[in-house]
Amino acid sequence: MKEQPLVEVINASYVYPGGIKAVDNISLSVKPGEFIALLGQNGSGKTTLAKLMNGLFKPTQGTVLIKGKDTRKMTVAECARIVGYVFQNPEHQIFASTIYEEIAFGPRNLGIPEEDIKQRVEEALRLVDLKKPMDAFPHLLSVGEKHRIAIASILAMEPELLILDEPTTGIDFGRSLQIMRLLQRLRDRGKAVIVITHDLYLAAEFAERIIILKDGRKFADGSTKEILSNKSLLVDAGLSPLQVTLLSESMKSYGISENTVRTMEFVEEFLKILKRGNLSRMKKA
Ligand SMILES: Nc1ncnc2c1ncn2[C@@H]1O[C@H](COP(=O)(O)OP(=O)(O)OP(=O)(O)O)[C@@H](O)[C@H]1O
Ligand SMILES: [Mg+2]
Repeated sequence: MKEQPLVEVINASYVYPGGIKAVDNISLSVKPGEFIALLGQNGSGKTTLAKLMNGLFKPTQGTVLIKGKDTRKMTVAECARIVGYVFQNPEHQIFASTIYEEIAFGPRNLGIPEEDIKQRVEEALRLVDLKKPMDAFPHLLSVGEKHRIAIASILAMEPELLILDEPTTGIDFGRSLQIMRLLQRLRDRGKAVIVITHDLYLAAEFAERIIILKDGRKFADGSTKEILSNKSLLVDAGLSPLQVTLLSESMKSYGISENTVRTMEFVEEFLKILKRGNLSRMKKA
């Protein structure tokens, strides 16, 4: 039996009240367990598409289905039970006076019984690996910690698809890796993940599928290798190809596969060449 998609976007468009068409006739579907990176230049429509997928916005044309149900016929809370959305700059949205209250807010809104909420808060904090007292004042935490609180507050609603809007922008590389590894763990536990990012390196290392938007339209959608190794496609979308792809291309004549997108893939190719004894040829070059 075909697995039911979590989200189906069918010829959907979204025009803001001021008249800007931010999403233009997009169709795509998201299946359980997928790890997708959503890429595109500033203003290409990523955030607007994310808000359509979690029902915060209803399409002005076309349809968005969450588990087969039209988002127009669902409340925002019903949508949020299945599709969680962590806002761009979520640290600005922390409002509660304790970590516990901040994370409990979402599940409480969904009508989860109070006795289950504590368990959900503890589990969410464990998942994001935040070891702070639950009665601590969240505003005193670092930006990275606030970010993890924001992710925990969405996780506590136990959505099946988690969309994170630029979770690694403005934080250092180590913390970015931590967040991406957390997302990987969630995916391993059966959740689908969409991460909106400008970082092609993180997309290449962690995502299995890439969707690129350009001017509100879906410009590309395919496997990470297929999309990120396509230099001209990336350039047309206003994105810079990965260093490792350029490096592998420049070493094509030594037998390195030219469409490498992951660092380890390059290392493995390189080691194969060394084993074949092509090193002397390389030295001469
Ligand atoms: N609240 C709004 N009212 C009117 N226009 C908006 C609003 N939010 C976004 N837009 C416009 O819609 C288009 C798509 O914006 P969106 O925020 O979805 O893009 P994005 O890909 O998420 O960009 P970024 O990478 O900068 O976050 C842009 O032209 C933007 O100016
Ligand atoms: Mg955005």
